[in-house]
Order: sequence, then structure tokens, then C-alpha cells
Amino acid sequence: MKNTLYKSLEESGKILKEYMDKDFAVESKDIISNLVTEVDKRSEARIIEIIKAQFPKHNILSEEIGAIDKDSDTKWIIDPIDGTINYAHGIQICCVSIGIEKAGEIVMGGIFNPFSGELFFAEKGKGSFLNDRKIKVSNETIIDKSLLVTGFPYNTGNNPNNPVEVFAAFVNKDIPIRRLGSAALDICWTACGRFDGFWEYNLNPWDVAAGCLILNEAGGKVTDFDGKEYSIYGKEILATNGQIHDEMMRVIHGVKKK
Ligand code: IPD
Ligand code: CA
Ligand code: CA
Repeated sequence: MKNTLYKSLEESGKILKEYMDKDFAVESKDIISNLVTEVDKRSEARIIEIIKAQFPKHNILSEEIGAIDKDSDTKWIIDPIDGTINYAHGIQICCVSIGIEKAGEIVMGGIFNPFSGELFFAEKGKGSFLNDRKIKVSNETIIDKSLLVTGFPYNTGNNPNNPVEVFAAFVNKDIPIRRLGSAALDICWTACGRFDGFWEYNLNPWDVAAGCLILNEAGGKVTDFDGKEYSIYGKEILATNGQIHDEMMRVIHGVKKK
């Protein structure tokens, strides 16, 4: 499966690079700011073609086409471009993300930004890698010295979890925060120690499937906002170096829900 995963990432990455400087069609999805481009669809079609050629009986869950159910215990979970808004604006902070779930557990994941050439990869029990280098989370223990990253859900204004107020609670503690626009890269950059912690509401399985394994295998911790066991099908993610996890949870809990 590793060869197929790498081939899928490399070939879809080529498509992202090829179209970056061309004109491509862009449409809105459920709400006007939630975009899908022709390149998302081309990337997705190529990935699925590669997977199907090797594993025709595996299940697939992919952002733009949805689920292909073959009654298999193995599911490829695909985000053909994570960071589509960045991509559509010519910002090269975006990636392809593919996670493989077997019997309900993520066993392999890869995330590739073809513009930076950074490919993050993890296999359950075997550690996490950035290209050929083994990676681990940061050692930061103090939240005030941390660098955090987050994203906002498309329905930020109406979200009962108050994403703006939670963001403000961290900002008011004078903690630096970045907002890259690609959840998959946010998690990878936490896994390799650039960030100390990441949180977001309302992500989908394809945003996080590969990233969660990469973070866990790099020694990080991922839970929901109550510190409970994380599911890629859940709506809350708190992914950290493990050291500042409880402190981040306290800040999030300090904000009353609507
Ligand atoms: C989005 C990105 C973004 C996050 C959004 C996601 P997309 O994925 O990961 O960082 O804030 O919630 O939907 O739409 O570019 O695949
Ligand atoms: Ca995504
Ligand atoms: Ca996407």
C-alpha cells in the first residue's frame, strides 16, 4: 500500500503544480466561500484511478465524490487538495492528504505539498517522517512560549462553539497564533515541531485522517476538546505536542458555548 500511497501523492502533486499558473474553473459548494476547483477534481480522479488499479476492492472516501463502498475493511480517505482557497489564490500552502483506515484504525498516512517538496509520512508503530528525516513534536511545556495554529470553520459566524471567542482567548493571553489555511499542514507542522499546538472545529475525515497518525507517530497527542479519545469522524480536534494539551483545553473550556 505504501507504494500506491506514494504514487498517488506524487502524481496528484504534479497536477497541482501543473495547473497553478493556468486558468482553471472554480465553483462554490454549499456556501459561497467554500470552493472546489477543476484541479481538486483532476487530482481526485488521478488518485482514485491509481488506487483502483492496485486495490479495486478497497473502500474510498474522498472529499469531492464522497464514498465508494466495496464492503472492504480498508478505506482510503482522500483530500485531493487541502487548502483549496489558498490554491485558488495562488498561495502555495496546500497539499494532498491520503490516510488509510483498516478495521476502523488509521494505519498509514501521507501528506504532500508539491510546492515545498515536503512529504510527511507515517505508518502505525513505525514513526513519522518528513521526506527521509524522522520527525518529532516540540518539547515546549509553557503555553505562553508556544506558537499555535488554528483554522476557522466555514460557518464561523453561526457556530455554537464560538470559534472567534476561543481564538480571542488565546490572543488575549499574548500567545502567537498562525492561520495557514490547510488543516492537514497545520497538523504536520505540529508533528515536526514548528507549531506546539493546533485546534479547530468542524473538520472532516479527509482533512485529518493522515495528519492524526503523523502527529501520533511523532509523539504528539490528539483528542477532542474534552480530552476524550479522538475520532476522525468527530467535529473537534485538539492536536498538540502533548505538553501544552491540558492548558490549551483549559483555555478552550474557559469560553462559554452559545
Ligand atoms: C479546509 C482547510 C482549512 C480548514 C477548513 C477545511 P479544504 O479544507 O483544511 O484549513 O480551516 O475547515 O475545510 O476545503 O481546503 O479541503
Ligand atoms: Ca480539506
Ligand atoms: Ca479539499
